[in-house]
Amino acid sequence: MAKLLIKNGRVIDPASNLDAVRDVLVENGKIVKVAPRVKGQGARLIDAKGMLVLPGLIDMHTHLRDPGRPDKETIASGTRAAALGGFTTVCCMPNTEPPIDNAAVVKYVRDKGKTEGVVNVFPIGAITKGLKGETLSEMGLMLEEGAIAFSDDGNCVMRSDVMRRALEYARQFGIPIISHSEDKELSSGGVMNESAVSTAIGLPGIPALSEEIMVARDIMLAKKYGRVHIAHVSTAGSVNLIRRAKKEGSAVTCETCPHYFSLTEEAVRNYDPNTKVNPPLRSKNDLKAVIKGLQDGTIDAIATDHAPHNIEEKNIEFNSASFGMIGLETALGLAMTMLVETKALTLKEVIHKMTLAPAKIIGLSSKGTLKPGADGDVTIVDPKAEWVVEADKFASRSRNTPFNGWQLKGKVVYTIVSGKIIVKDGKLV
Ligand code: DOR
Repeated sequence: MAKLLIKNGRVIDPASNLDAVRDVLVENGKIVKVAPRVKGQGARLIDAKGMLVLPGLIDMHTHLRDPGRPDKETIASGTRAAALGGFTTVCCMPNTEPPIDNAAVVKYVRDKGKTEGVVNVFPIGAITKGLKGETLSEMGLMLEEGAIAFSDDGNCVMRSDVMRRALEYARQFGIPIISHSEDKELSSGGVMNESAVSTAIGLPGIPALSEEIMVARDIMLAKKYGRVHIAHVSTAGSVNLIRRAKKEGSAVTCETCPHYFSLTEEAVRNYDPNTKVNPPLRSKNDLKAVIKGLQDGTIDAIATDHAPHNIEEKNIEFNSASFGMIGLETALGLAMTMLVETKALTLKEVIHKMTLAPAKIIGLSSKGTLKPGADGDVTIVDPKAEWVVEADKFASRSRNTPFNGWQLKGKVVYTIVSGKIIVKDGKLV
């Protein structure tokens, strides 16, 4: 297999505590050497002078809509969007049609990921059959087939006894339960954050408490029964609860998404359904708390919650539109623009939360780093390039982003998966 030598780039590898100009040699799909000067006879060369050379980004929360909704996304289109966004690995959520709640569907997604995907695809199995929150799914069989975590994302497992069993069961395998923490009764009927803004514009609200009550419950359950990862943290109260739980030594990790540190509920004032997401865009205070949580390590990871929806479900009245926004092609640009440019976080911290942190949470030990022996997944970014978000040009089949027209800094130039160039000069090859 071909050799690839990436020369003169600024290599940032949080796992090695490295941020320096280095050469990176990839051979037979693996990282073999990272050093100031590497000779790679016969290797294909990439001159990365002035560029960032990063471990391939990992999105631990993607919706690929496969099986069932090719009108919204497929494994082919979703992984292409991922590659353009610098992601070399995506973990896809099970709220598909049918849901990924048994070994056969896990196998279908794994196989299709290999044949049609251009980045690594790892399926997340459902916690409960049919995502109904009642009966545990065939977790063991799904694990054997390649599921890497379990979640009912999009739905909360409302029954604490079911959540307890799921945590106990998953603990035996050392894999995480990813919780969509939302008290469904409390948020029922709501379409945006409950606040003075929702009152002013006349939309039914989703209180912060509907998230926080379940975050509190999940933390308490995890303390006794296993390990929980809280998905898409959006409120100050959740950040505080998780901070305290971590101090007490609970086995809890969490993620937030770019929209929770880039936008507030103010964006909903124009009734643009592309701002409708669950959990909803929150208050300024919540946004600040999310950033604080990212800074002090309470929030471990940044994930996209890439949630593609078609025009029929999005280009309609706010109340009836589906929840969700796409994120694979904007996540890195938003993180660099909203967190690094503002000096809220260092580049290394942001990269850590998009590479090593998710790899550790999910248990992908050969990913999230450029250490020799790791998989040859590399993302090369031009940190100075400014670009304008043009949803029409996205590889995703869907267009539902509230960031259309935004100017972002930091553009993906190369995406390399197992030593193979998938994106070159910002375009799919
Ligand atoms: O806004 C959302 N959309 N939140 C979720 O939890 C699920 C997702 C979807 O699948 O569309």
